[in-house]
Amino acid sequence: MPPMLYLLCTGNPGKAKELRALLPPGIELATLADFNLPKDLPETGRTFTENALQKARLGHLKSGLPAIADDSGLEVEALDGAPGVDTAFYAGPEKDDKANVAKLLGALRGEADRRARFRTVIALVDEDGEHLFEGEVQGRIAMEARGTNGFGYDPVFMPESSEFTFGELPAETKNAISHRSHAVWKLARFLAERE
Ligand code: IMP
Repeated sequence: MPPMLYLLCTGNPGKAKELRALLPPGIELATLADFNLPKDLPETGRTFTENALQKARLGHLKSGLPAIADDSGLEVEALDGAPGVDTAFYAGPEKDDKANVAKLLGALRGEADRRARFRTVIALVDEDGEHLFEGEVQGRIAMEARGTNGFGYDPVFMPESSEFTFGELPAETKNAISHRSHAVWKLARFLAERE
């Protein structure tokens, strides 16, 4: 595949690092800062799909490059799917990971059903149109935060059949099974097949 330049529409360094590690070598990524765009593009939709499309559409419009945006979040069974699309702002508009994790552990105090899943929707928007790629990973919410790897809710998310959280597991292990990996692999296959 010849090198291709895409705009990566995220200001979240944790997401950007994972996406770069997961995409095949022929793909080069420009950042929002390269186009003087704010690091938080508006995401006012009520689904992951709406938000991913909203960010990728704006990125494509402003840069002229094919644009990739990821919208993701955590759905907790005992909380009827919350925080869902509000995952980043669960504890308030500051998008504070520590406060989000503390609020989640508080909401689940005394709750035996810890089942949860991470979901990602990646949108690719370019002159050929709009394409969506989805991924998810099932797991459970730990009783307390453990580990410093990853970002966001990783210290409290134990993927299925693991007693370790994503915060305790090496990045390579997370990248082999995560919601984001599943979505990125679908995107990578799509890009390779259309070359
Ligand atoms: P958004 O996709 O930027 O709206 O935010 C997603 C929210 O989910 C943020 O609070 C992230 O920290 C969290 N999140 C998304 N993916 C992951 C992940 O792989 N690990 C931990 N937290 C995540």
